Amino acid sequence: MKELSLNVLDITHNSITAGAKQIDLTLELTADRIVIRIRDNGCGMDEKMLASVTDPFTTTRTTRRVGMGIPLFKLAAEQSEGYLDIKSRINEGTEVTAVFNKNHIDCPPLGDMAATVAMLMAAVPEDSDLNYRFETEKGGFSLGTAELREALGGDISLGEPEVQQWIAEHIREQEQSYTC
Ligand SMILES: Nc1ncnc2c1ncn2[C@@H]1O[C@H](COP(=O)(O)OP(=O)(O)O)[C@@H](O)[C@H]1O
Ligand SMILES: [Mg+2]
Repeated sequence: MKELSLNVLDITHNSITAGAKQIDLTLELTADRIVIRIRDNGCGMDEKMLASVTDPFTTTRTTRRVGMGIPLFKLAAEQSEGYLDIKSRINEGTEVTAVFNKNHIDCPPLGDMAATVAMLMAAVPEDSDLNYRFETEKGGFSLGTAELREALGGDISLGEPEVQQWIAEHIREQEQSYTC
């Protein structure tokens, strides 16, 4: 996987599949680190599953035997001399944290995080929420499906192309104001 936004898409999809009602995605940028955290209150994993989940042959899906999402995210973090940490409790939820050394030559580019978040917001079920938080040393901002749905009213879906574009554009503008 070439861009971190693709890893984020994959790992956040795990939270959706796990039936999470609340998903919190955080991107934290400092002078030398990128920290990505995905926390959910989905079905969680037992200890045995958790211990084997960074192994590329672990999956509960039946269509393909190899689960690659977490192993690839871990590999990407370790290639930049960072690390991946997973905490999970059955019936409570899961938290995946990946830390990257931003200035390491093998640190992948972030990719289009704004478009990825917009896509994920359209993918979460109506009765679930995704909150995105962006943090830097200068400050940050949040955007969540709950406030967006409320602002849009019942008739317009987060999957509408215009809404998707607006979300991505809003995130890009906000992020630029903290990174320039
Ligand atoms: N957030 C999560 N909540 C519950 N189970 C999870 C979560 N993330 C991963 N898993 C479990 O770990 C397995 C491996 O995940 P992953 O490496 O992304 O591969 P895949 O999604 O392709 O199966 C999943 O099939 C699922 O059983
Ligand atoms: Mg996955």
